[in-house]
Amino acid sequence: MQSLRRLDKNKNIKNTKILLRVDFNVPRNSEGVTDATKIIKVKEIIINFIKRGAIVILCSHLGRPQVKGKEGFSLAPIKIAAEKIIEAEIAFIEKDFKKNIEEGIKENKKIFLLENLRFDIGEEKDSDEFAKTLASLCDIYINEAFSCSHRKHASIHGITKFVDSYAGETIQEELVALNSIVSDTQKPITCIIGGSKISTKIDLINNLLPKIDFMIIGGAMANNFIKYNNYEVGQSKIEENINSTIKNILQQAESNNCKLILPTDVVTAKTFEEKGINKTLDEVEKDDMILDIGQETTNQIILVLKQSRTIFWNGPLGFFEKDSFAKGTNQISLNIAELTQEKKLISIAGGGDTFAAIKKSKKEKNFTYISTAGGAFLEWLEGKILPGLKVLEIKN
Ligand code: 3PG
Repeated sequence: MQSLRRLDKNKNIKNTKILLRVDFNVPRNSEGVTDATKIIKVKEIIINFIKRGAIVILCSHLGRPQVKGKEGFSLAPIKIAAEKIIEAEIAFIEKDFKKNIEEGIKENKKIFLLENLRFDIGEEKDSDEFAKTLASLCDIYINEAFSCSHRKHASIHGITKFVDSYAGETIQEELVALNSIVSDTQKPITCIIGGSKISTKIDLINNLLPKIDFMIIGGAMANNFIKYNNYEVGQSKIEENINSTIKNILQQAESNNCKLILPTDVVTAKTFEEKGINKTLDEVEKDDMILDIGQETTNQIILVLKQSRTIFWNGPLGFFEKDSFAKGTNQISLNIAELTQEKKLISIAGGGDTFAAIKKSKKEKNFTYISTAGGAFLEWLEGKILPGLKVLEIKN
């Protein structure tokens, strides 16, 4: 296992400014945070630093504001949720980070949260300038965001060049848990990949195909395969210019003897408010949206689960946030949980949405392990070195 730099638990950190890179990229709706697991995970760590007299500056990204625009991506509402969880006041710093933190410290404020790091163009570019700005805010940097450590971004990677940097407790815990489970995996191995975008998961899919026996594709991602096979997908979410990618996945699966499982039936609706209708692929109409896998597909996946010994799951299989379209994801979650309880399956799930979906089925305690990390979890599984962890390795 990678040995990472850790902060000495007995170090005197009184008045030390600690920049804590957390993952507050949490699921939310118009009413606020819908799943606070990622915040709860770092609660005790923050409280402990404050008890030891440190000043904690929290920083995180939220969504993809450089692509979608800043509106709706401020961390301000997340600050409110975090204050309730941590049960302490958090000063929100929108701009002029250094100046405002220093003023806050003079007013005896102990916990700060910076505005969405991705509002600055330098974050995703891993720019030295932005990394230096962040480093200048603190005496010590700690990465508590395993789920973001696959991103070569300034707050994860670049910053470590400019300040004393450490891997946090949650990273260590995650690595210990994942290493012990993955070293114990047994074949046949099945991977369930859901969610919406093939383009963000294409490398993962291609790298995993040679290592696994079954690849199940669901969620909006499957719509692209359905369309590729010349079926109507109506108003469903799809990606443009993806045909050659799909062709490549199909060829890779075949040459690696990995059985690809795609939906044979789906649940559709014309609006999100309707109840879904189970349809075969050739019944889908031009004004339909595909919002869940159908019952026949669910049954087929359950048969695959029963033949498997290890399962990796990332990405819900439908629009699980709405009860009408949560059935497929729910049934799969229940079956995995049951097989795991019966010791027939090692089940490892990863990703904020996947965790939320499993929680919705109330089976999160029955999985072998659930990581709140999505992309980072999958890249780690592939055997990739995560850039955010690489920079924290202890050099011999
Ligand atoms: C996650 O939710 O997996 C992390 O917050 C990473 O988010 P990202 O895919 O936007 O980098």
